[in-house]
Order: sequence, then structure tokens, then C-alpha cells
Amino acid sequence: MDALTAMSMLMTAEGRRDPYPLYEAIRAAGPVADFGEQVVVTGYAEADAVLRDPGMRVVDRAMLLRVAGPEWADRPAQRLMTDSLLNTNQPDHRRMRRIVSAAFTPRRVAGLADAVTAQAEHLAEAAAADAAVDLMAAFAVPLPVTVICELLGVPESDRAWFRPVALDFAETVEYAQTADGADRADAAARELRDYFIGLVADRLRTPTDDLTSELAHAEGLSGAELLGNLALLLLAGHETTTNLIGNGISILLQRPESQLRLRSDPAYAQPLVEEFLRFDPPVQMTTRVPAEATEIGAVTADHRTAVTVLIGAANRDPLRFNDPAVFDPDRPDNTPLSFGAGAHFCLGAALARLEGRIAFPLLLGRFPRIALGAPAVRRDRLVLRGYERLPVTLR
Ligand code: HEM
Repeated sequence: MDALTAMSMLMTAEGRRDPYPLYEAIRAAGPVADFGEQVVVTGYAEADAVLRDPGMRVVDRAMLLRVAGPEWADRPAQRLMTDSLLNTNQPDHRRMRRIVSAAFTPRRVAGLADAVTAQAEHLAEAAAADAAVDLMAAFAVPLPVTVICELLGVPESDRAWFRPVALDFAETVEYAQTADGADRADAAARELRDYFIGLVADRLRTPTDDLTSELAHAEGLSGAELLGNLALLLLAGHETTTNLIGNGISILLQRPESQLRLRSDPAYAQPLVEEFLRFDPPVQMTTRVPAEATEIGAVTADHRTAVTVLIGAANRDPLRFNDPAVFDPDRPDNTPLSFGAGAHFCLGAALARLEGRIAFPLLLGRFPRIALGAPAVRRDRLVLRGYERLPVTLR
């Protein structure tokens, strides 16, 4: 299959189910494949360089207005995202990131370890009542939701409401959105915005020690930026970690030797999580646009070019990783690009790792006989890769 056909296959349900063979067909056109208005990066070194290059810009509001016009840029979901860190460039990004990361300190993250463990134990106990469960619904979804809601100060009674809303809002970051998906994302954006307006008003009246309170009282964020970043944290803190747990458990279920080792050595969770992240990353791609003409490998791209960085492909670059298609938690120097790199490096990487390092040994220890109960069903998405259902038997 040629690289262009592989690119178009990525936009089909079949391609999304297993994009990795398609990535290899694209890689055959070189580490940076030139499709004219789109350049696709599959090489690890090239992807890393693009993400670290200050001249490579994320798609921000000004760019959206220029390229897609106000009818797209002014849609609620686009507005909410372009008010957040993820879709803002310098100097605004630096200002916002300083404020949001100050409220997101390593101490606050480390302080969540006990809460993560307690919640994981509680979910595992509840799942144990049944001989068979959908591990996504029973564990992989509720664990990160609870953690991010604790962090943001979202009361327990509102948490179940978030799942469908966050899922619909996640359509905003999908590759080649459908009209339906964009409508659902807009409806979700309106709901999220209204919800956070209420939560912020409450924290302004009565401050607490949660992140919403801290950000609401911080100097230097506009009202719109505050709402955009709260929505981003909810989305990023939820869907991605859910998929790390789901993708990771699915890999473990096929590897009894890794299960055995994890049960006898919980510290093995650390290299295991890094290899889950490399092998089947929850975020498969991101986009940049050069501010001016720039060399990316052997290709020249300019401000009219969308540079698609295929994280899932860069993580399997044979020039960077030996036997990249082999799952090997013992591989040395395992630094996948799964949390990005450079100015937009994931703010929640430490939290996601903490959740993974607690969840995997806990589940495997609690359920020594865990096994796949029926075929797992992938969610039909490319950018945020995960499972819809992961049926397991526990006894
Ligand atoms: C396994 C779980 C996760 C993965 C794979 C992941 C992946 C990523 C990636 C690839 C980016 C960079 C996107 C780009 O450069 O275009 C990113 C950014 C971000 N992530 Fe995560 N993430 C995860 C969990 C989290 C969590 C738990 C949070 C927060 C609680 C979070 C918050 C953010 C934020 C705020 C940004 C934007 C940073 C910026 O633009 O400066 N992420 N994440």
C-alpha cells in the first residue's frame, strides 16, 4: 500500500481499529512524508524536533479564523479549546502555563497517591462482586474521573454526569471530525462552560483548597481562559488516563509472563507503564503549523502546511527502538513521545504515571485469574485511542 492510500485509510473505521500497519506504509515514504499541504512525521527524531521547535505553532484562534473562518472558529467547542493552553501560542501560552502549572505542583500530585489507591481499591472491591465485568466501565473510566474531579473540586454528585459530556467534548481533538461529532462537541462545550461558570462562582464566594479555587483566584487568567483550561484539564485528565489503563490491561491479558512478574514485583509497574505508553499510546497524534518556512528532515514546510506528528508511529521508529513492534518493558532508555515534548509537554504526565503505577499492580494482585471474557471492542477514534468495552472474567 502506498503512503497516500495509508493516510486515507486512517480515516476509515478499519484503519482506526489498527493504525499501526498504516503507519509503516506511511513511514516507507520517509520519516517525513510530504503530501503537499500536509506533512506527516513518523520518525522519532523528527517528531521530537518538531514538538520542541518554538517556530512550530499549535492551531490557535487566529489561525483557525484565518483558515476555517468565523463560522468554524466561533463554534463553542473550538472557542473553549482555543482559550486553553493546548491551543495557544507564545507569549499567551507561557503566561497561562505558568499559572496552571503552579496550581498543579508535584506536591499536589504526590499528595493524591493515597486517594488514588483508596479509589482503585474501592472500584476493584465493587467489581469483585461479579464474576465478569466490563473493565472500562468498572475501573478504567471511573478511576481517572474520580481523581481529576477530586483535583478540580467537582462534587461527587456531579461526577457521573461528566463521562458522556467529556466524551462528546473529546470529539474536538479528533482527526477529520464528522458534522455529527462537531455538533455533539458543541453541545458538550456549552454544558461544560455553564457547569464551570457555576463552580467558579461558588469558589469565588467560598474558597477551598482545590484547583478550581486556586485558578479562580489566580492573577493573570481571563475569565474565558479560566473556563477553557478547566475544560481542558477535565478532558485531558480523564479520557487519556482511562485509555492508558484500558490499553495496558488489554496488553497484559495477552502476556501471562508480564502478569506473573508484576504480581511478584510491584516496582515492575514503572517500566511496564512506560512500555504501555510507547506501544499503544492513548494520544496518537498532534498537529503543528510552522510560523515560517522550515526544514523538517528533508522536507520544507511553511505557514500553509499542516504538520501531523504521528506519535504512535514515532514510538515505533526502528531507528530509535530495537524491534519496535515487540512489547518489551525491559527495553533500555525507553522515552516514548506519548506525553509530547517541548512547550506543550503534558502537564499531567506525573499524575497519569502515578495512576498507572498504582492501578496495574493493584488489579493484577486483586484478581489473580483475570482473563479476557469476550472480544474487546475498540472505540472508533484515532487521536484518543482506547477501548469502548473490555469484558473480563475475574474468577
Ligand atoms: C496517559 C495519560 C496522558 C497522555 C498520554 C497525555 C498526553 C498528552 C500529550 C501528547 C500532550 C501534548 C499535546 C501536544 O503537544 O499537542 C498533552 C498535553 C496536556 N496534557 Fe496530557 N496526557 C495524559 C494525561 C493527562 C492528565 C492526567 C492531565 C491533567 C490532569 C493532562 C493535562 C494536559 C494538559 C493541561 C496539556 C496541555 C499542555 C500545554 O499545552 O501546555 N494530561 N497530554
